[in-house]
Amino acid sequence: MNTEKTEKFQSVLYLNGVTKSFDGFKAINNLSLDVSPGELRAIIGPNGAGKSTMMDIITGKTKPDKGEVRFKDNIDLTRHDEADIANMGIGRKFQKPTVIDSLTVWDNLDLALAGNRGIWQTLVFKLSSNQCERIEEIISLIGLSEKTEALAKNLSHGQKQWLEIGMLIIQEPEVLLVDEPAGGMTDYETMETAKLLKDIAKNHSVIVVEHDMDFVRALDCTVTVLHEGSVLAEGSLEKVSADPRVIEVYLGR
Ligand SMILES: Nc1ncnc2c1ncn2[C@@H]1O[C@H](COP(=O)(O)OP(=O)(O)O)[C@@H](O)[C@H]1O
Ligand SMILES: [Mg+2]
Repeated sequence: MNTEKTEKFQSVLYLNGVTKSFDGFKAINNLSLDVSPGELRAIIGPNGAGKSTMMDIITGKTKPDKGEVRFKDNIDLTRHDEADIANMGIGRKFQKPTVIDSLTVWDNLDLALAGNRGIWQTLVFKLSSNQCERIEEIISLIGLSEKTEALAKNLSHGQKQWLEIGMLIIQEPEVLLVDEPAGGMTDYETMETAKLLKDIAKNHSVIVVEHDMDFVRALDCTVTVLHEGSVLAEGSLEKVSADPRVIEVYLGR
């Protein structure tokens, strides 16, 4: 095996020289990113830096104009569509929860576990004991053990977000992308979310975009600062927040 290939195998996600323009404006400009298996990575940067567009490119929602976007065993993600990429094991959590309000916490997870089984079969057929255990495991992970039979509509905003994260994790993605999870959460929920993502990162790679600096500090992981579609700085939060360029474009505002 040549060394170049060995190196690529060590990344779960690898972006190199990625560029994407919208009407001539470079939302992503020669962007590179390298995420290891099992890594927790925070992405910060001012509004319009290209954070969400980067996630759109990874998940196949947006095709880059040029550059490499690779997933683990050298899979070229630019050749796959959104549904394929989700099935390959890249899960994405959007800001707006998509849980079904009229179902319980348990039934929402059951549906998510079912995946292709479909809603009708899911509600009619009995779960195996393995499946029940898996749902219970996830409910405990997301801290909703007391809420198993609660309807999703009666959960707090934060609890709904955790349920949604649980619904993604139950499908066992290798990589979880989370865009601004702390928006609208209380301080307590924000800190619990940081703990949850740290727990999840024990078994998955997690990339999380967030503005809340207390949250990013609690994640205690490598931080990538995006600015004008490129990486401006990368390293510990301590290191990047001492970088004069980061202070100038982001933190100092
Ligand atoms: N589909 C699109 N069409 C046109 N411009 C877009 C589109 N998506 C993003 N942009 C532009 O790309 C830039 C980066 O946006 P975005 O990735 O949402 O930034 P962030 O998530 O860091 O705030 C912004 O200037 C935004 O207006
Ligand atoms: Mg965004």
